[in-house]
Amino acid sequence: MAAVQSGSTATLRDEGIETDRPLYVTQPYLPPLEEFIPYLEKIWETKKLTNNGPFHRQLENALCEFLGVEHIALFTNGTLALVTALQALRITGEVITTPFSFVATAHSLLWNGIKPVFADIDRDTLNLDPGRIEAAITPQTTAIMPVHCYGRPCDVDAIQRIADNYNLRVIYDAAHAFGVRYPSGSVLRHGDLSVLSFHATKVFTTFEGGAIVCPDAKTKQRIDHLKNFGFVDEVTVVATGINGKMSEVNAALGLLQLKYIDEAIARRKEIDATYREQLRGVRGIRCLPDADKYLANYAYFPILLDGDYPVSRDALYQDLKDHNIHPRRYFYPLISDFPMYRGLSSALRNNLPVATRAAEQVLCLPISTALGQTDLDRIVRVIAKRGSLPQQR
Ligand SMILES: Cc1ncc(COP(=O)(O)O)c(C=O)c1O
Repeated sequence: MAAVQSGSTATLRDEGIETDRPLYVTQPYLPPLEEFIPYLEKIWETKKLTNNGPFHRQLENALCEFLGVEHIALFTNGTLALVTALQALRITGEVITTPFSFVATAHSLLWNGIKPVFADIDRDTLNLDPGRIEAAITPQTTAIMPVHCYGRPCDVDAIQRIADNYNLRVIYDAAHAFGVRYPSGSVLRHGDLSVLSFHATKVFTTFEGGAIVCPDAKTKQRIDHLKNFGFVDEVTVVATGINGKMSEVNAALGLLQLKYIDEAIARRKEIDATYREQLRGVRGIRCLPDADKYLANYAYFPILLDGDYPVSRDALYQDLKDHNIHPRRYFYPLISDFPMYRGLSSALRNNLPVATRAAEQVLCLPISTALGQTDLDRIVRVIAKRGSLPQQR
C-alpha cells in the first residue's frame, strides 16, 4: 500500500492537532535530581564505585523483596545477564526460542556458540507457542528460551511440562517483565532462571542494567563468579567469566527508582485503560487482551492493524511520525530475518506464519509517565482519523 497522502496530514494539522512536542514510544521516569545527590555524596565519601559495593548489595536485597524472589544477581545490562545465564547452566547445542523479540535474545545464544531454533508464537499472547515447541526438539536440544513479550507472561505451566518431559532447562528472557506477578507469586519464579533488563526504555531503569533471578544460593554464587571474571578470591579463578558487574551509581539510581515504581506503574495502567477505551471504536485496530489473570507492569502498548484498517501499518507509522509521534514497530523485522539467522531452516517464513504476520501488523504506541490526557487524545485522533478514511492504495 502507498503511504498516506500528505494532503490528509495537512488536514489533520489544520484541525488543530498539536505537533510541536515529540511523543516517544517511552520516556524514562527519573526521580527528582535532588534526591539522587545524597547517594552520590555517599559514593564520593566511601570511594566505593563497584565490585559488590554497599548500594549493589542493598539493591539486590530490595529487589528480592519487591519482586518476591529468593535470589538476584545484578548486571551491567540485560544482554550480558542473558549470556551469563546460559553459561551458568552450561547450556550447549540447540535452544528453542522465539523470533518475535529484541535481537539480544538470540544474540546471547550465538555468543555462547549455541544454535537458536525458532518456533512460532501464539496469536493472542505473541509469546512462544507451547504447541510448536515439541516439533522443534532434536537430540541436540538442551533448553528453551522464551520471552515474556511486552511483560505479558508466557504459558509457563505448558512450557515447564515440555521441559520436564524432555529434560530441558528453561531460561526466561524476562527483560520486559519487571514486577509482573500472578496471585501465586512473581512470574520470575518460573523456569530455571529469569533475566531482567533495566535499560533506559524499561519500566524500571538504572540507566543501563540487568539482573538474573535464580532459585538457590549456589546458582547465585556461580553467577556472581561468572560476572566477575570467574574470580572466587584474589588468586582463584574458576571460570572464563566476564565483567558484568553493576556499578554503584547504577545501583543507587535503582534504589531511588524503586521508591517511585508503584506510582509509575499505576500511571501506565491508566494510560493502558485510556487507549483501550478510546481505540475501541476504531475499525481494524486490535489491542492485546487485558491483563486479568496477572498483575501487569504496562511496559508497552502494542496494537495490531488487521485488514480492516484502511492503510498499512507502515503508512500509519509514518503518519504518526509526521505528527511528531514516535511509535516503534516492536518486533519488526523478526530476529529470524536478520542476516546471521536467516540461513537457519527454522528461520523460514513458512515455519513462522504467526510471527511473520504479527511483525507486519504491530505498532507499539507511546506509553510513559510523561504522557498526559492531551497527548493521548492527540495520538488516538491521528489513528482514528486515518481509520475512518476510505481505503487508499
Ligand atoms: C526482550 C529483550 N531481551 C533483551 C534485551 C537486552 O537488554 P539490555 O538492553 O539491558 O542489554 C532487551 C532490551 O533491551 C529486550 O527487550
